[in-house]
Amino acid sequence: LEVTETFAGIALPGHLHTKESLQFATTFPFRDTDVVIVTYPKSGTTWMQEILTLLYSRGDALPAKTIPNWERAPWLEQIHFRGALRDTAAHRLITSHLPARVLAPLLQRSKAKVIYVARNPKDVVVSFYYFHRLAKFLPDPVSFDAFLQQFLEGTVHYGSWFDHVKGWLGQRQLLDIFYVTYEELHQDLRGTAQRLSTFLGCPLGPETLEALEQHCSFAAMRDNAMANYTLIPREIMDHSQGRFMRKGVVGDWRDHFSPLQNALFNRVYQEEMRDVDLSVHWSMV
Ligand code: A3P
Repeated sequence: LEVTETFAGIALPGHLHTKESLQFATTFPFRDTDVVIVTYPKSGTTWMQEILTLLYSRGDALPAKTIPNWERAPWLEQIHFRGALRDTAAHRLITSHLPARVLAPLLQRSKAKVIYVARNPKDVVVSFYYFHRLAKFLPDPVSFDAFLQQFLEGTVHYGSWFDHVKGWLGQRQLLDIFYVTYEELHQDLRGTAQRLSTFLGCPLGPETLEALEQHCSFAAMRDNAMANYTLIPREIMDHSQGRFMRKGVVGDWRDHFSPLQNALFNRVYQEEMRDVDLSVHWSMV
């Protein structure tokens, strides 16, 4: 399972990508009505897929409870071999982890709406580390320390978090794009859902909001087999090694970083992010 595909200078799990599927993704004919969720892994992708499902179903939980998330909002880079694009929906939901430099030029040719979700990279690296233990299509992370080094160097699968975030932040003037953080979803799911409904032009009444809040809670998603990846066979995701819906909290990095790791991380973060300030959204201390 553990095969690496290299694409645009980035390592990607070969189990989830092929040369053909990536070629297909980067020539994909987006429609103006498409809604594309873009994230660096472990930043709240599945959460956003669930939120948009509930928003478009007007609060009806049936689709979220009967259709796996990867069919409700398929990965662009997998459509080629999985199919599963819900062509009957007025708005197709599509998900991608691809960097802006390969995907944004293509999106710019349409009026598709893009939702970019970012998360405190200190929490991303912790979540990604545990995900590497669970996902058999990703390399063995060896140790948290080793993994952290690779994350900071940008040599992990999916490439550099810094490049991903900065690349997509650079699209503000070029795309119809909505930026949101995992931390905002945590702090104010209702308010964020309302802003999303305005951005998408999808009305959101009080009852829908109520249902959305309930079905998109961590507890509800942890127990929803259509969102928690327990349908995936053990050879691909070994759930004896941990859960996909692991903790769902803000600031878990504080229980994982040593003072030395923290100092190293801060140094790289300050250097890489000197032109962008996202610290209003998350705490680095
Ligand atoms: P943790 O490993 O920190 O728990 P992605 O979907 O991009 O792979 O991100 C997965 C992360 O989002 C995991 O983080 C997961 O627990 C968290 N997550 C998923 N649904 C959530 C929810 N409803 N509330 C809070 N966190 C959620």
